[in-house]
Amino acid sequence: MQNGNPEPASDRIPFWETEAFAGLLASAERPFYLYDLGLIRERAERLRNWLDPSILVYYAVKANPNPDLLRAMAAWTDGADVSSGGELAAALKAGFSPERIHFAGPGKTDAELRFAVRAGIGAISVESPNELDRLEAAAFAEHRIADASVRVNPSLLIRAFAIKMGGKSSAFGTDEERLPEMLDLFGRMPHVRPRGIHVYAGTQCLDAEALAANFRQTADIVRGTLAGGKTPLLRLVNFGGGFGVPYHEGQTELDAASACAALNAEWAGLKKELNPADAPVAVLELGRWLTAQAGLYAARVVDVKSSRGRDYAVLEGGMNHHLAASGNFGQVIRKNFRAANLSRPAGAETVEVTAVGPLCTSIDVMGDRIRLAKPEIGDWIGIYDSGAYAYSASPLLFLSHPRPDEYAADPDGAVRRLSRLPESGAADW
Ligand SMILES: Cc1ncc(COP(=O)(O)O)c(C=O)c1O
Repeated sequence: MQNGNPEPASDRIPFWETEAFAGLLASAERPFYLYDLGLIRERAERLRNWLDPSILVYYAVKANPNPDLLRAMAAWTDGADVSSGGELAAALKAGFSPERIHFAGPGKTDAELRFAVRAGIGAISVESPNELDRLEAAAFAEHRIADASVRVNPSLLIRAFAIKMGGKSSAFGTDEERLPEMLDLFGRMPHVRPRGIHVYAGTQCLDAEALAANFRQTADIVRGTLAGGKTPLLRLVNFGGGFGVPYHEGQTELDAASACAALNAEWAGLKKELNPADAPVAVLELGRWLTAQAGLYAARVVDVKSSRGRDYAVLEGGMNHHLAASGNFGQVIRKNFRAANLSRPAGAETVEVTAVGPLCTSIDVMGDRIRLAKPEIGDWIGIYDSGAYAYSASPLLFLSHPRPDEYAADPDGAVRRLSRLPESGAADW
């Protein structure tokens, strides 16, 4: 904390606030995403500075799996968290080393398990007794020993996670109360080597103290396994993450430096109880905190109209390109993303307008009664905080509109168009 304010994650001026951005707007042919890689690098560097060096930062590929962005993340983070065979293939291709890949997800198929075993990844996070059986069979079939962690659904519910994945009945992991049984099962698997504990209890948390409580409960779960003599689950403690970003009015930036300090303290205490000969490591897995605020989505206005007292701007892209901005990706009460008319000067007078996408559904609302510099046909409307769970989390095929383009602004300010995501993640493996 500095003067009561959290240390900023970045001081860099986003590319879309620089003069060079006008060149991109002038040449763009269709709606697009722009990722400011310099911003992402700065956030990754700050995180690294805040964390003890023995805590590894894994990038959660699901947040943004663009292949070029992944290549950059392979250089700026320590490893990857993947949740499908497609993400695993993409992470390997991007240059993440197999030992630094962690594979979690409740529906891993036999083919995905075999692929992960064959690739020799650092840990496959086992989510259920049946999955453990299937992992044993996969490892046997591949003539390999599979390194695995146990995903635990903790008993304590952390309310500050906007999206809760643990601390209640959940499809993710093994309930904490049943962990001893699960560890016994591990002991009976000749081709599965237990490596660690994984807790991922939720996401989009803006409260550093709640994150600290989550880290504490993970450490206590590990202590419980040590006390029960259910070892050797000692090498890897994956503390999960859940660092959130402020998307909506009234939300404030997470004090990430304090959350990291809490993790450092928790890990320092726990590490003393682990066997140094096992060279134990901790992992913090983050997606949105690294990339969300480094992304902008932009679409042109194709029509302006008014209906019964309300003004509308109809955009060339909507929830088909950016489901989250329409409020249909995990929001209970719809809230607007921050938006601006990128074609008008920053200080221009604003009007109230509802920005909608081009789809034939009333839920395709990209900004409900937001304030924008008066939009005209042809203006570019920008939606901020669009670098995570955006392109790849959207129903791109819905209504058969073209997909948006993707661009990166490199740390030196050069802009390039990015390669498209492969149609099917399974094609590579
Ligand atoms: C196991 C796991 N790790 C990491 C993440 C990344 O979350 P976030 O992007 O909010 O950091 C998720 C998100 O659902 C997840 O399920």
